[in-house]
Amino acid sequence: MLRSALLNVMIKAARKAARTLKRDFGEVEHLQVSLKGPANFVTAADRRAEETLHEELLQARPGYGFLGEEGGRREGSDKTHTWIVDPLDGTTNFLHGIPHFAISIALQREDTIVAGLIYNPANDDLVTAERGKGAFLNDQRLRVAGRKRLADSIVACGLPHRGRGDLVLASRELAAVQEKVAGLRRFGAAALDLAWVAAGRYDVYWERDLAPWDIAAGLILVREAGGYVTDLKGGEAPHVTGNVIAGNEDVHRELLRQLKEAGTT
Ligand code: IPD
Ligand code: CA
Ligand code: CA
Repeated sequence: MLRSALLNVMIKAARKAARTLKRDFGEVEHLQVSLKGPANFVTAADRRAEETLHEELLQARPGYGFLGEEGGRREGSDKTHTWIVDPLDGTTNFLHGIPHFAISIALQREDTIVAGLIYNPANDDLVTAERGKGAFLNDQRLRVAGRKRLADSIVACGLPHRGRGDLVLASRELAAVQEKVAGLRRFGAAALDLAWVAAGRYDVYWERDLAPWDIAAGLILVREAGGYVTDLKGGEAPHVTGNVIAGNEDVHRELLRQLKEAGTT
């Protein structure tokens, strides 16, 4: 498959960072039984991956800005372009030896996300998209799922956990949604949740209190696969507000309505 120079840059960077992440993931299993546990080791793996991505992306596009979860914002001389990067999304899965985690890279031009990549090194699923050029899982063109009703849908979500998020609000939303859907999932990697909506595996997904690097790449993947992505008020920039809902036109609309009816948005 013929890919643009931009996507090739992003893929090369992701594959390089993935090599060490994969090796580190193999180590994590041994560390589970050690007294200290794998937490510090995973933090180091995370940082290493971000440094590799920073190095590769900036070597290919010197001057672009860089916003990464670990290192924060690094300004570049080119104020119109910013890489938005999560070097390891699904840290808790990684830490527990669950092979559901990803590298997420987005490119923002002015205020628009123009390219995205989400890569799971554990199963080699590589999902990419560029504005106006469609979304792909490896070489296969993607289209969001076609189900029309929430009642037939698999719905993915994120849930608050110790020290994170609004538990009462989440319980109200869950209660409102749970009885209306075919199945609920919470797999613990926001970037992959969005990639799976793009791939038509999940019909719809929502989550609150995310960061720009959790959403930016997934946003363009879903839109390029023909889906809708907004925040929970219907706004077009969920990577700015941190609250996201993504699916095809019908189930996106229906879930958004359910959440609003529950008085939760
Ligand atoms: C987290 C994951 C998780 C979501 C959290 C995120 P991290 O990112 O995407 O699914 O529920 O809110 O912070 O910490 O694994 O990069
Ligand atoms: Ca993340
Ligand atoms: Ca992360």
